[in-house]
Amino acid sequence: MTTSSAPSLALPVDDEELAQRLAERLRTVEVMLAGHCQGRTEFVSRAASHLMASGGKRFRPLLVLLAAETGPTPAADEVLVAACVVELTHVASLYHDDVMDEAALRRGADTANARWDNHVAILTGDFLFGRSSELTADLGPEAVRIQAQTFCRLVEGQILETVKPAPDEDPLAHYLEVVAGKTGSLISTSARYGAMFGGASTEVQEALTAYGDIVGSAFQLSDDILDIASESDESGKTPGTDLREGVPTLPVLMALGSTDPADARLLELLAADLTDDDLHAEALDLLRKHPAMDQARSYVLAQTETAKALLSVLEPGSVRTALEAFADLVATRST
Ligand code: FPP
Ligand code: MG
Repeated sequence: MTTSSAPSLALPVDDEELAQRLAERLRTVEVMLAGHCQGRTEFVSRAASHLMASGGKRFRPLLVLLAAETGPTPAADEVLVAACVVELTHVASLYHDDVMDEAALRRGADTANARWDNHVAILTGDFLFGRSSELTADLGPEAVRIQAQTFCRLVEGQILETVKPAPDEDPLAHYLEVVAGKTGSLISTSARYGAMFGGASTEVQEALTAYGDIVGSAFQLSDDILDIASESDESGKTPGTDLREGVPTLPVLMALGSTDPADARLLELLAADLTDDDLHAEALDLLRKHPAMDQARSYVLAQTETAKALLSVLEPGSVRTALEAFADLVATRST
């Protein structure tokens, strides 16, 4: 059986007891995840464990565990199962995403499509999604419905990314819809499952679902900013992938609004085919220095403030503070 190293808590939590509880449960989830990646054959187990074992921040399971702390049963078995469900769905989607992006690197390791091929990567994603669905059945019909709706939103967001906005559609609104679908949906469900299976009130469940939607979108916006700003040794991915693919993300959409003549070359490049290495490097360099980067970061910060305001339904205390810190971390993440 493949073993995975337990991740340290990616979140600063002031309350030592809460931090220990979360870290302990996350370790349990990690062992469960490694088990769920096992197939009937050695090859399937190896392919399915490949991405899970190469690390990852485990943001979604951590959010399930933390959101569960808003209710009376944060240690319930269902909470741990739900944490596995969201991470398995997430990792499954990454196998498919790396095929679509023709990505070679993720979490500092070869992607499955690079290590094996597209067929293996797609089928392994399906396998992990099957595992996730099987586990969701243990959580009951309401959880299955939520998982199915989440998955439809996730896939629709991803499909929408490949479709250009209609001529009368605002490109920023189109992009934000993509982001809310492909990433906001599953992070929202992570917060919702946590509150649900932790036994929180309906009011808290609804507030955390809305919080997760905003924090989830902010997570993807930060990811898109990092795609431009980071070097590959920091992010574990190939920088400038969105640019090369011609997918306009927040900093690009903000730069496109510029009327400054000094931006003429950048605008020309952004309208060009950036699969050419030299043009791609030039565009990446100009974008990194452009004020649109800070404008995009400010937008994300404002979003997370909105998300934190939704936490006012919770009693002040360490759980609420940790959820606020979670939102801050998403906005200021560097990996
Ligand atoms: C990352 O986007 C991708 C997602 C958040 C979702 C991708 C969803 C699918 C491919 C749907 C199919 C899934 C299954 C299991 C059938 P990104 O490329 O912007 O982020 P990255 O920088 O991490 O690659
Ligand atoms: Mg990708």
